[in-house]
Amino acid sequence: MTGIATLPPEWYTDDAVLRRERAAIFAKNWTLFGPAHDVAAPGAWRAETVNGWPLVVVRGADGVLRGFHNVCRHRAAALFPPGAGSCNTIRCPYHGWTYDHAGHLLKTPNFGELPGFDPAKHGLFPVRVDLWRGLVFVAIDEAAPDLLSWLGSIPDLCRDFPTAPEMEYFDSFVVTGSANWKAYCDNTVEGYHLPFVHRRLTQAVEPGDVNIYALDDGKLVVFDVGYRNDGSSLRGARGIWFYRFPGFQTVIGERGFKAERIEPSGPGGLKSTSWAWYRDLPQSDRADAFAWAQAIVREDLGICEAVQANFAAGVYRTGFLSPKQETHVARFQALVREALEGEAERPAELRAAAR
Ligand code: FES
Ligand SMILES: [Fe+2]
Repeated sequence: MTGIATLPPEWYTDDAVLRRERAAIFAKNWTLFGPAHDVAAPGAWRAETVNGWPLVVVRGADGVLRGFHNVCRHRAAALFPPGAGSCNTIRCPYHGWTYDHAGHLLKTPNFGELPGFDPAKHGLFPVRVDLWRGLVFVAIDEAAPDLLSWLGSIPDLCRDFPTAPEMEYFDSFVVTGSANWKAYCDNTVEGYHLPFVHRRLTQAVEPGDVNIYALDDGKLVVFDVGYRNDGSSLRGARGIWFYRFPGFQTVIGERGFKAERIEPSGPGGLKSTSWAWYRDLPQSDRADAFAWAQAIVREDLGICEAVQANFAAGVYRTGFLSPKQETHVARFQALVREALEGEAERPAELRAAAR
């Protein structure tokens, strides 16, 4: 039989598999956190749960950007509500324990004397933070490579296109749905579905001018696209879309840039968050491009939700991947298998607390 068998459907529905994926995949890779302009001023913070970890990124009064698990060392309250703001110190809303911008524990009001308790050993749990092209990335695990190594061929790929700070920020949007993150990524790395699922996009693309290839051991899948003259006004004549395993996707053109974070929210749930920048476009075209970008995510997720329902129903056992159209799906699924192989079921280890 020709073709390549797909991952078992249970891998898309099983909570134990997701727990292993969080430790073996999401903790060990970089995740897009959001635009750097959110945390530009001293004291600025942004808090959000990402891949199941409540996190906060804070710009210190010293100008250094730091990331922490959003958890108090006393009794695990969230230090920040979801959202953004500004702070001089980090004060827990539960019993008032206070930390500085570097995560050091400063005050434990009215706690009393506890023999052997050393505040210096109870700073916030740090998370790695780095910047690329106006975007903040975070990594949970110390074993992740530095961000530039992780990005691999991406900086080179984007060299001829404007960066986010060279464009004007427009807005962000969130799309949630009932599909496993892998169902969405299986879909993301193939162009087979484009003419069936994305009518407007198909009309905007020059027929035959989509070159899909993989780089960096299959962790990076690139769609190099030529747009038709009549469909190009929102994006420019050429553009690239790329997906970087496990959850970073972008659409880059002369006039627009969309960065997307794909993350699981339970074994059968997905959250996609996108941020968009534009330039050289009237406001109405920006609004149109933004609505179009949302429609594309919804089109993809709609298909994936139907796939997910059939994975859960249990009739479908395995499918076959086209050697012509779906080799990157096979590689994506192999990356998942490789990451989980030999990985014990355990939570991601936290780094030592701030000293
Ligand atoms: S949980 Fe933060 S001060 Fe008690
Ligand atoms: Fe799609």
